[in-house]
Amino acid sequence: MRKNPKKFPEGFLWGGAMTASQTEGAFLDGGKGWCVADIIRHDPYKKPEKKINTEITTKDILFAMEDKQGYYPRRYCIDFYHTYKKDLALLKELGIKCLRTSINWARIFPKGDEDKPNEEGLRFYDSLIDEMLKNGIEPMITISHYEMPLHLTLEYGGWYNRRLIDFFVNYCQVLFERYKDKVKWWIPVNEINLIMQESFNHLGIPSDKVENVLEAKYQGLHHEMVACAKAVKIAKQINSNFKIGAMVTCHNAYPATCRPEDAMAALRCNQMENYFLDVLLRGKYPGYVFRFFEEHGLNIRFAEGDEAVLRDNTADYLSVSYYASRTISEQSSKNLYDPETENAYLKTNDWGWTIDPVGFRYCLNELYDRYQTPIFITELGFGARDTVTEDSRIHDQYRIDFLRDHIKQLKEAIYDGIDIIGCLTWGPIDIVSCSSAEMSKRYGFIYVDIDDEGKGTGARLKKDSFFWFQHVIETNGEDLDD
Ligand code: BG6
Repeated sequence: MRKNPKKFPEGFLWGGAMTASQTEGAFLDGGKGWCVADIIRHDPYKKPEKKINTEITTKDILFAMEDKQGYYPRRYCIDFYHTYKKDLALLKELGIKCLRTSINWARIFPKGDEDKPNEEGLRFYDSLIDEMLKNGIEPMITISHYEMPLHLTLEYGGWYNRRLIDFFVNYCQVLFERYKDKVKWWIPVNEINLIMQESFNHLGIPSDKVENVLEAKYQGLHHEMVACAKAVKIAKQINSNFKIGAMVTCHNAYPATCRPEDAMAALRCNQMENYFLDVLLRGKYPGYVFRFFEEHGLNIRFAEGDEAVLRDNTADYLSVSYYASRTISEQSSKNLYDPETENAYLKTNDWGWTIDPVGFRYCLNELYDRYQTPIFITELGFGARDTVTEDSRIHDQYRIDFLRDHIKQLKEAIYDGIDIIGCLTWGPIDIVSCSSAEMSKRYGFIYVDIDDEGKGTGARLKKDSFFWFQHVIETNGEDLDD
């Protein structure tokens, strides 16, 4: 009888993940154009559990570009654009084997619709990737992680416009050719299923430019998936060893009760999250999606040839981010934008995100059952407020607890027989939070002395979790206790 492994496999890729627009800053340096992230303002009065408004109009964009009063954290971040060498040295000391970051589209194509890329932008990423390799850190590149050039939203209406497919594929081709011998792991689009909460960041559709925002989102997603499939085709022509991922965030929904109607509502909610993987990994839209479109009065246009492109160019692996699970009832599911209801069995963090390690194993099992494709955990993390003691220490036991409990469940998932390639924790160094546009929601093993208004020395301090995770990597996940 076959025996499943009870340990993390040799060569398991422990690491970290982040993104250009939450780390780099330098928002107009090196010829970079404005991108969608640059107009997200910090709101000091926002309640933690409330997300930033992601339905943005042209007026909001133009206001933000002219605004001299507000603070826009993602324009400055932790200044990684200038500090990357020192930061990578710290990450090397942490022991990470792989680092996922993104390339900011607007550094390479400042407006997005140019034919030729901005050489200065590419040179920055040449140095960044070379520095990772020099430090023995394998790069993983996300091509689009909430960083679309703003010009593409103002001029074209974002991904709703089919022309975005060509602009994106051209951008991908430039990167694949440039880094064909340096980068093996790619993710064309971050968390393609996260469209209700991150609609503007992700799809760049100003809500005043379309008649029906929901329809525009699903149309935009169709364009994005066709673009991903075309990117896979080009990637394989350039280097057949590239590994191209299809990425979702797994925030799996449990039924609120065992009432069949609640179970059905949770199932449908999960299906409408998973259908992106059906398209990107299996090459085909499942039937229930067309029912959903019809019931919501959405008319999604497919161009001739789209189905064949999707069928013939599927991704190689499943990239998953995991933070929290959700619970859904028939009633709560009627609110498409916020379908969650409370789960009495789970605690939450300060931002209302459930803490559910078993849910992590549950969702990995579900995904592997469906797709039988190797899974790479490309984000896992715990956002928390940290306190610096007088002797400059950060005792972040809560972060250690969260990661230890989740990594234990990951090990269980490996024993369940799931093929897992690696585990990248989110924000190994503190970065600006995406959904709440603040520094206070920290994920890092390395503290960065910058506050929500961008004030601070920028100093980097190792938290207790730094030494804990270093030991986890050294023992290949065998010793998880602190
Ligand atoms: C993921 C995104 O959904 O969650 C990241 O890919 C984001 O960009 C991360 O930062 C954590 O979310 P937040 O809102 O706490 O930063």
